[in-house]
Amino acid sequence: MKVLLIGSGGREHAIAWKLAQSQHVTELVCAPGNAGIAEVAATVPIAVDDIIGILGLVQSMDIDFVIVGPEAPLALGLVDLLQDNGVRVFGPTQAAAQLESSKAFTKDFCDRYNIPTAGYKVFTDLAAAKDHIKAHKPPFVIKADGLAAGKGVVIPTTKKAANKELEEFFSGKFGEAGKKVIIEEFMTGQEASFFAISDGETAIPLIAAQDHKRAHDGDKGPNTGGMGAYSPAPIFDQKAMETVMERIIQPTVYGMKKDGNPFMGVLFAGLMMTEQGPKLIEYNVRFGDPECQVLMRRLSSDLMDIFIAAETASLSKVEAPAWLDEPVVNVVLAAKGYPSSYKKGTVIKGLDTANDMEGVKVFHAGTKHDDKGMLLSNGGRVLNVTASGETVQQAVTRAYEAIDEAIDWKHGFCRRDIAHHALS
Ligand code: AMP
Ligand code: GLY
Repeated sequence: MKVLLIGSGGREHAIAWKLAQSQHVTELVCAPGNAGIAEVAATVPIAVDDIIGILGLVQSMDIDFVIVGPEAPLALGLVDLLQDNGVRVFGPTQAAAQLESSKAFTKDFCDRYNIPTAGYKVFTDLAAAKDHIKAHKPPFVIKADGLAAGKGVVIPTTKKAANKELEEFFSGKFGEAGKKVIIEEFMTGQEASFFAISDGETAIPLIAAQDHKRAHDGDKGPNTGGMGAYSPAPIFDQKAMETVMERIIQPTVYGMKKDGNPFMGVLFAGLMMTEQGPKLIEYNVRFGDPECQVLMRRLSSDLMDIFIAAETASLSKVEAPAWLDEPVVNVVLAAKGYPSSYKKGTVIKGLDTANDMEGVKVFHAGTKHDDKGMLLSNGGRVLNVTASGETVQQAVTRAYEAIDEAIDWKHGFCRRDIAHHALS
């Protein structure tokens, strides 16, 4: 099969690396890709949100199957457009992608299907939102309804700060996405990212990972797309997985179908492991980044088998995916300054040496080659240094050894405490 993958992050490099090993894939193309993806796929410079351009590429290259990595093209209706043109594609339709693109949609959905999540209220009016703050106790969880690149959630700890945030949301800090606001009950517990695949009717579990959202050690600093991940997540045992499948994932697949929006694709449940059991923080409708990189390293089955089974609505008939037992960690190397302003185009060396180290595999995110073949940074999150080991400690040690002894990039930084929850 000639397969087209959409995206350019570390998530997509990990997916491309697995697809390149698939018995089904004879040719792999990626739009737009990055320097690492270019080692295993032909890359074409079409942006992920250029859905018309992507359809044109599919038609001109005679692509057999499309896989969508990030959320933006899903929310824009890329899957609908491709399906309407007879193209096979893995990913949810625009209506089903509302599970990620509208938090109000998801909260209302959870309410109707009894899916455990934080209590909430939706506001479209500043005065009413302020009245709510007046009547309740901090901390407050305030969220923009629409996609806000992972920045649309704030947790002010005083009423004054909450009111100030609300004023900014309603005056357009997140554009239209922020003019509908959700105020939620504050939940406490450890967080986990759990992944399942649905074909619209049946869902099968993948595995869980834990992410590190804050930029700096000790979970300090601003929120980012994610600074590192590891799997397995010790907090997420077999029993937790069964509970989440039964109370969260299965009712979601059932409800989406019943409501006329059958969900085919990756269901990524962001969970809070509370004293009352796992509760849904949010849904994403694609793999997590940096979580996907550790999942792909642990997956021993053919990834394309899973995508094909989902697309042909035959997940109930396939064998469960198999996973390697060894823990895997992923330490993100980001450009200094990320997630605020940072330099692009700085020289990176030493990746071949890193990749030769035991258990280590580096996935690229924001990278590109210049005309002389030199590797340059080209984004905020730049490299994903993944390592497996017999223990989490060994995996962590190997990842940091690759960073400290092999990779030569003066303009990068990483967190030094990835997987601390699993080690303590
Ligand atoms: P979200 O974008 O909805 O995943 O939220 C971003 C982060 O905010 C989450 O990873 C949590 O750390 C935190 N968060 C979101 N909702 C809640 C909540 N109801 N209670 C406590 N923390 C939350
Ligand atoms: N790592 C969180 C996300 O991909 O949204």
